[in-house]
Amino acid sequence: MAADLPVRPEIASTAETGARSAVRAVNWRPVPAEPVGKPGSVFLTAPERHLEKALADAGIKTVSKPGAKSTIVITEGLKLPDPTARHWAVLEVARQCRGRGNRILMLEKANGALSRISGLQGLARTLRQEWPEVGIACWSLAAPASKLDLLGAFSAELEDAILTPDGPMAQSVAPNAPPLSGKGPETPGVWLVSGGARGVTSDCVLALAERLGGGTVLLAGRSPIAPWPEGIADTGDLKALRLALIEKARAQGEKPLPKEVDRAARAALAGREIRATLAGLQACGVRAEYLQLDLGDADRVKEALAKAQAQHGAITGLIHGAGVLADGLAETKTREDVGRVFAPKLQGFLNLMAALEPAALSHIGLFSSASAVFGNIGQSDYAMANAWLSRVARQLAEDLPDAQVKSFCWGPWNGGMVDEALAAHFRARGIGLIERADGAAIFADHLLYGDRADVELLVGDEW
Ligand SMILES: NC(=O)c1ccc[n+]([C@@H]2O[C@H](COP(=O)([O-])OP(=O)(O)OC[C@H]3O[C@@H](n4cnc5c(N)ncnc54)[C@H](OP(=O)(O)O)[C@@H]3O)[C@@H](O)[C@H]2O)c1
Repeated sequence: MAADLPVRPEIASTAETGARSAVRAVNWRPVPAEPVGKPGSVFLTAPERHLEKALADAGIKTVSKPGAKSTIVITEGLKLPDPTARHWAVLEVARQCRGRGNRILMLEKANGALSRISGLQGLARTLRQEWPEVGIACWSLAAPASKLDLLGAFSAELEDAILTPDGPMAQSVAPNAPPLSGKGPETPGVWLVSGGARGVTSDCVLALAERLGGGTVLLAGRSPIAPWPEGIADTGDLKALRLALIEKARAQGEKPLPKEVDRAARAALAGREIRATLAGLQACGVRAEYLQLDLGDADRVKEALAKAQAQHGAITGLIHGAGVLADGLAETKTREDVGRVFAPKLQGFLNLMAALEPAALSHIGLFSSASAVFGNIGQSDYAMANAWLSRVARQLAEDLPDAQVKSFCWGPWNGGMVDEALAAHFRARGIGLIERADGAAIFADHLLYGDRADVELLVGDEW
């Protein structure tokens, strides 16, 4: 059983990556907290008979109402089968528990069926920054032989747990990266890359294709491959394209609304980006195809993957890069915000796994985030979804011992969802950005040639 307080990266090795900037990739995993102190009276947010009994057996008093300075144990994290509903319930209950000097303990499952795993460490790490006055911890429970064992083990741990805010995580990040000792794939294979037609995942998939030099890459995203607007000069600049579209409309005697112009410009740029990625892949000798689909739509994912696999063969490499943000403080988050963030990253991944044959996978590359490792103010939902993804990587590495499984916990890139405002925010905090070519090289090298034992890589600057 691993506790979340404090968490320190553990460096596996220190060989050079040959990366062209100060970007580092380190293998890390949480180090269990030193047990000190006792929890006092405990309130369970949802009735849990086995847990109450286990706590009583361990001599820990449970109370029927939280008093001041109680330890509140959020039990919803163990129960609800739907992962989005479960994470939302914990966030909602945590909000109700804030105040009166209470300490909050979240419980989550760290392994087992993918849909039952939780990313509550990401929530705890974020809330400790958003609510510095509250003691918040998250216990990650290993899958038990039985429910009773789980709770018995929990109560034994709880007896010794101290629940106080832990301040910034101790960092001791090595200047270099784990070695690239593994062998690449024997055949290039068939790859499915969610989000791979656009954003930083497209840089990564192009770097991968350069190294593969063949095979099939299927890119999946929601955007249609919109044609470039007639009579407009090619540009990748959103502002310049908006202006050109307005001028063209005026010349035709039209007065489009700014939001219509913006929508048309973004759609044209998305189409342009998808075409460029497909062309880049083909230039590497790869057979490339774009599947227009929303990962949150399980039926559509199933249908598209069945068709693609009938044509190209079983998918052997899965890269999950799709993701969206819905930033805002935990106090103001809505169920819809959490659902929006979880739909591509968490539910989308479950939908993909359900639509392919896991045993055929030789490579799995997941786009997680440094926010899962450090927490990030305004990103409680995003940190949860990414922490879930990293946990899932560890589970898959266990379930598929012959596969190369990597979760990349990226710091901010100079591109993709990091726009100019966000880039300035990170720079002001002294956090360097990952240059696109550097991040892409790290991704492709570690996914193809990394050591299988290095499952979770933290890439970028310390936060
Ligand atoms: N950029 C960074 O600094 C950074 C840092 C840490 C982690 N990451 C992670 O890296 C990944 C890529 O990020 P990015 O910066 O490249 O973001 P981005 O530019 O916004 O790209 C996101 C990609 O996900 C696709 N996508 C989103 N929702 C989807 C859905 N429901 N179904 C199918 N595709 C969907 C998008 O395509 P459509 O819009 O066409 O659907 C797009 O290709 C994300 O998972 C992100 O969390 C990025």
